[in-house]
Amino acid sequence: MSSLTNKRILLGVTGGIAAYKSAELVRRLRERGAEVRVVMTEAAQKFMTPLTFQALSGHPVHTDLLDPAAEAAMGHIELARWADRVLVAPASADFMARLASGRGDDLLSTLCLATRAPISLAPAMNQGMWQNPATQANLEPLRRRGIQLLGPGDGSQACGEVGPGRMLEPEALATALAAGFETGLLSGRRVVITAGPTREAIDPVRYLSNHSSGKMGYALAEAAAEAGAEVILISGPTALPAPERVTRIDVISARDMHEASLAQAQPCDLFIAAAAVADYRPQQYLSQKMKKAGETQRELTLVKNPDIVADVAQLFPKPITVGFAAESEQVLEHARAKLERKRLDAIIANDITRDGLGFNSDDNAVVLIDREREQSYEPMSKTQLARALIEQLARYLP
Ligand code: C5P
Repeated sequence: MSSLTNKRILLGVTGGIAAYKSAELVRRLRERGAEVRVVMTEAAQKFMTPLTFQALSGHPVHTDLLDPAAEAAMGHIELARWADRVLVAPASADFMARLASGRGDDLLSTLCLATRAPISLAPAMNQGMWQNPATQANLEPLRRRGIQLLGPGDGSQACGEVGPGRMLEPEALATALAAGFETGLLSGRRVVITAGPTREAIDPVRYLSNHSSGKMGYALAEAAAEAGAEVILISGPTALPAPERVTRIDVISARDMHEASLAQAQPCDLFIAAAAVADYRPQQYLSQKMKKAGETQRELTLVKNPDIVADVAQLFPKPITVGFAAESEQVLEHARAKLERKRLDAIIANDITRDGLGFNSDDNAVVLIDREREQSYEPMSKTQLARALIEQLARYLP
């Protein structure tokens, strides 16, 4: 069963009898690991209650564009940004007509206009309505805008007629959605990614470390696996579960990470250093716990750790080597200097002073810099960003 782990699916439910199947669809999506938020149109609420979808999705259902209380919790633009994919199931003839003409007269149609996530529709309607030239004419502009049509299926209908217009079954929709995340861009490639912090032991109970959550590196590992790569994730201590289809190697210190990275990178196609490696470690490891004494100051001598990504960039044959530059000032200048100094193929720069972005948060905004150009990525979820970055990095491969 292909996975939807950590995927954020915005499920739009419009008015049609097939809406009852969408309740089951929420369960199928969640079983595959997706997070689901539901938006219902007014007509959908005549068939099913928001409470049903709230209970199944575990989140309040969004119904109104102009509801101040709902907007305060998660505004419609925020919801549009949140989604990795929008699935409208069932998509009624009326909704498809409104989407085709670019209307934004309710919450769901407005979200479809505002989102940058791909949109899929699972049409469901009476066979006559589906075959009507007006409905058929609406398909062309939808397809041209990259909107994916899943179904409809053919067969007996709730209205007693037989023909095309049945919504695809929930399991088939979940499978199609999961397949939509698989690009095959890195199939046959081996990708090694470092992630998380490192811990530099002082004594048996104390260590030096940093606030890295590992989320960016893990999201990259997942995106690379989705793109078909064999992925080795070399991870410092994090609270994150290993992504599916990824081989995780757990390490603690920078020296462990260095050793594992050099072993795994020979050979590999793409090496991404997303770990926040401690630059220094205590010169001496005390085998007994350091005791408190009378002094008010104590010195700890630190020595430099090996630079993992710089050493990988010296390998022969050398993988495409990509680093990160988390900076708090002169972000692009420092990142460019690092690109040169470490002889990288590309560097991903982020400004760690931006609120709610970067270190330890779920969202990030970065600039991808290589020797020829710079490309900015606006704030988005680390999952979405990872997918966009992997798509770009795959282009560097011969
Ligand atoms: O030099 P600085 O730590 O700012 O560089 C950041 C980049 O270098 C990141 O990609 C990080 O994973 C990598 N790095 C490394 N080994 C180190 C220090 C940093 O691979 N010892």
